[in-house]
Amino acid sequence: MSRHTVRPGTVQETLLIPLYGRAVETRKDQPALRDPRAEELVAAIDYDFARFDGLPSLLGSVLRTCLFDHWARTFLEEHPDGTVVELGAGLNTRFERVDNGRARWVDLDLPDVAALRREFFPDTDRRHLVAASVTDRTWAGAVADFGQGAYLFCAEAVLPYLDEHEVRAVHDLIAERFPGSRLALDTASPHVVATQDTHDALSKVTARMRWACPDPRQLADWTAGAELLASHTLTTLPGPVHDALPAPYRATIRELAQQRLPGVEEYSLNLLQLP
Ligand SMILES: C[S@@+](CC[C@H](N)C(=O)[O-])C[C@H]1O[C@@H](n2cnc3c(N)ncnc32)[C@H](O)[C@@H]1O
Repeated sequence: MSRHTVRPGTVQETLLIPLYGRAVETRKDQPALRDPRAEELVAAIDYDFARFDGLPSLLGSVLRTCLFDHWARTFLEEHPDGTVVELGAGLNTRFERVDNGRARWVDLDLPDVAALRREFFPDTDRRHLVAASVTDRTWAGAVADFGQGAYLFCAEAVLPYLDEHEVRAVHDLIAERFPGSRLALDTASPHVVATQDTHDALSKVTARMRWACPDPRQLADWTAGAELLASHTLTTLPGPVHDALPAPYRATIRELAQQRLPGVEEYSLNLLQLP
């Protein structure tokens, strides 16, 4: 079988970090999550993944994914016939982990990532891939045509790569076209953005974060009536996510919390309820 390539030097390359994190995690004796598809995808992609070996950020991306999975599961418990939209899906496999057999699911990414994704994840009657930039307003029509019921938008490790005015436009578009929806997104402080060249994983790729958010509570001010339902860091994961982790990870998190590293404490995972 021919191996697939991802062009280095693009924002698309960043999808390989969480993908590899999930693959590495799956091989552990006591993993935080299991993702056999990620292992298959890593084997099928022609890329020097070993350059990420041993980086603390691999575990960080896995913990972040555990929280986004938790939010998606909670949403689907409340809205079993709802729609989950992955903005900047990369080669994410959340559908494989949390699907309930009833919901609709949309994965969206830039055209070249969407083409790669399509090779591994065919559309079904409940799952649809949209090839577009999240900054191109037309994606909202494609999502509305396919989706049903309540909406959860997951933008995991995507929006910080945009400019703030683009993030605002994405947020405003979701608020306007999908009232009452939830948006899960991560935010990096100005310090985290300013020091990203020294970040263990980002320093190995050329893509750079551009949007800095000093305080996630500001997100609720972007639309009247919006509410920040949750905001966590990797050291303050909610009980159900934290308690499900293997004991060694809980110990690592305790140690990390004591160190109060700005790179950890100023990177937030947020759930926003739109009016
Ligand atoms: C760090 S990866 C995260 C991938 C996925 N969310 C995950 O957690 O595995 C960032 C993703 O955002 C996508 N992305 C970046 N800019 C985008 C844009 N303007 N529109 C859509 N996707 C974008 C990239 O192609 C990449 O797949």
